[in-house]
Amino acid sequence: MIEHGGKLREAARHWGIPLTDWLDLSTGIAPFSYPSPPLPPSCWQRLPEADDGLEAAARACYGLPLDKPILPLPGSQAAIQTLPRLRPPGRVAVLAPTYGEHPAAWRQAGHEILAFAPPQLEAMARQVEVVVLVNPNNPTGACFDRQRLLALAQDMARRGGWLLVDEAFADVIPQQNLIADCGDHLPSLIVLRSLGKFFGLAGARVGFACGPSLLLDRLAAALGPWSLSHPSRYIATLALSDQSWQTGQRQRLIEASARMDRLLADHGFTRRSHTQLFHYLPTPQAPHLHRALAQQGILTRCLESPPALRLGLPGDESQWQRLDAALTHIVPSPPPRMKMRKGKLNAPHPHPRPEAGLPIGSLRSMITLGSGAAFSR
Ligand SMILES: Cc1ncc(COP(=O)(O)O)c(C=O)c1O
Repeated sequence: MIEHGGKLREAARHWGIPLTDWLDLSTGIAPFSYPSPPLPPSCWQRLPEADDGLEAAARACYGLPLDKPILPLPGSQAAIQTLPRLRPPGRVAVLAPTYGEHPAAWRQAGHEILAFAPPQLEAMARQVEVVVLVNPNNPTGACFDRQRLLALAQDMARRGGWLLVDEAFADVIPQQNLIADCGDHLPSLIVLRSLGKFFGLAGARVGFACGPSLLLDRLAAALGPWSLSHPSRYIATLALSDQSWQTGQRQRLIEASARMDRLLADHGFTRRSHTQLFHYLPTPQAPHLHRALAQQGILTRCLESPPALRLGLPGDESQWQRLDAALTHIVPSPPPRMKMRKGKLNAPHPHPRPEAGLPIGSLRSMITLGSGAAFSR
């Protein structure tokens, strides 16, 4: 099983902290979600129907002309798992690091996986039949230029290959999106979208696939009828149609992301990158930081290879203050000698704290003692 964020119940059991006391920053789901209205009883009584306005709302929201096909999904995860079975086993280049479900699904369907870093994209693409990437990437936040990807899609089309672009985190900055470029004229390009992140509707399980119509037909057939529930279709249609909420949400996320960037800089994290929905801190201290924050009831996502911490956004002022206080409590400023030697550790803290000067080797014990004492529940 692949590790994911959002496992609050497991964290509550593991750390002995009640479920309601947690601040969950372990996902990239927006902390402000589309407000769910009361559902009409027909949502529960009647089977969902295809021409209920969902596809039209998605087309309008994503800037897709009427003649281009779009397939609603029960979460983009459904397409991530199904698409690899719609091609004979071959060689697949997958961006690394990235959302782990992508390489796992291709591997499980019998394909050979080749990992690549962003600068190797074109060179790697020449050696494979399928290229898979997330744009902007989860967890690193790396972005690929739209023109670069379009050129690659054209090249893959000439060779009968696929370029699968997962745009789960792309809603805040639509200028770089490829979804409107999909269609029968570019049969290599497949784009996935999710309503779980920007719209904060992860529980509704709604996503979309765009690409050539024949492939979308095969994907629809593999998923079977009524793959989205009627309530999910209903709320997704409202959210996708609500442009003024989307404009406000963009602004909220941009401001929250900038605030997180300042907070992390203030706490001395010099190596960091982000999307507007999460921040990424590559540091060998990631397991220590993850544990120390968890002991204070703050759940983050700890990544192993390379070691890194990913943090989602707090949703209100008290959560911001809680995160700030928790970081103040656990992150030591290493002495200058250690900083020079280790290179990768945090930059000097602008405001020296009581723990400044502690050798970095004592971070683990300091974290355990400090936070354990405060949160021994
Ligand atoms: C990059 C990426 N793509 C797709 C998904 C799946 O999203 P969903 O199935 O909720 O649309 C996730 C979930 O975290 C993700 O991080």
